[in-house]
Amino acid sequence: MRALGLTTYGGPEVLRPVELPEPHAGPGEVRVAVRAAALNPADVMLRDGSLAAVYEGLEPPYVPGMDVAGLVDEVGPDVDPEIAVETGRFVVGVVDNTGSHGGYSEHVVLPAASVTAAPAGASFAEAASFLMNALTARNALDVLALPEGSSVLVTGAAGAVGGYAVALAHAEGLRVVALASPADEAALRAAGADEFVPRGDDAVVDVLGLVPGGVDAVIDAACLYDRITPAVRDGGTLVDLRFWDGDPGRGIHVAHVNVRERATDHAAIVRLREQVEAGLLPMRVAATFSAADVFDAHHRLDRGGLRGRVVLLFGDGREGTTA
Ligand SMILES: NC(=O)c1ccc[n+]([C@@H]2O[C@H](COP(=O)([O-])OP(=O)(O)OC[C@H]3O[C@@H](n4cnc5c(N)ncnc54)[C@H](OP(=O)(O)O)[C@@H]3O)[C@@H](O)[C@H]2O)c1
Repeated sequence: MRALGLTTYGGPEVLRPVELPEPHAGPGEVRVAVRAAALNPADVMLRDGSLAAVYEGLEPPYVPGMDVAGLVDEVGPDVDPEIAVETGRFVVGVVDNTGSHGGYSEHVVLPAASVTAAPAGASFAEAASFLMNALTARNALDVLALPEGSSVLVTGAAGAVGGYAVALAHAEGLRVVALASPADEAALRAAGADEFVPRGDDAVVDVLGLVPGGVDAVIDAACLYDRITPAVRDGGTLVDLRFWDGDPGRGIHVAHVNVRERATDHAAIVRLREQVEAGLLPMRVAATFSAADVFDAHHRLDRGGLRGRVVLLFGDGREGTTA
């Protein structure tokens, strides 16, 4: 089986075609013939060695990719009959990738619980663009468990995790303060931001002007850490999406969240697909690349400033839509 992986850490050039043993679906699993795999910041962290400690001891090549869309082509025994994953179905899946098990592959075997039908009408690229980051936003909000009317600041609000956090938090009755570039203000207000704060040195002062005493919590998708904790109230919470080991003081709790904890939460995954179909959560594709052009795709991701995912297309490269 063809995949795209790395045996040494570095820039986009370390990503190469690799040949791996054909995987097969075991009990409770399905095999997906991957047609599209989204690129995420975690893929860059794997590529450039930022996750080296996590991959220590695992046999290379390492294959990135946490978001896939494709067609089920094997269903293992003992799959929960409640999970509709028959052969041929167009699905999306979240990939808890480790070692050479990753989404940049012709085939990936996943727990059936990690998979759900693609949103109606979606192309392969669109379908691959939303699940892992929407699930991350879901995870952050569930960890916070804020009562209705609480205030939540979302940094990096124009990005994938941030955008989903804004939409979900607003839908759940939170007062959402979005922090992003001024060019994104209108789109974020339309997506559910109650307040908007431009990114930059004045952000903390601006937040405190809107929410005196500070917000109840921040979902820190831009990794601002101690540059933003002064905008959190005493005893509030900062949701850390990477590995920040700082201590903001004032009783502020730092909640470390990892989407891998939710990778088999089938009910949450189905609900997110429904929320895409209902128009609450967008599928945003910034660019598509043939899998053979993974080098260019990673270069594009490295340049930043994207509004939507970069997506690799696999197989015959043709786009498809759900019936
Ligand atoms: N722990 C988990 O489970 C988990 C899961 C998914 C993602 N993550 C992490 O969550 C973070 C967000 O992921 P993502 O996919 O949403 O990334 P993304 O789409 O690249 O969004 C990040 C956003 O932050 C903005 N940004 C960067 N620096 C900023 C600054 N100094 N001030 C304000 N905004 C700034 C970026 O804007 P520009 O690009 O325009 O500069 C971008 O809009 C990443 O660190 C990722 O690794 C963690």
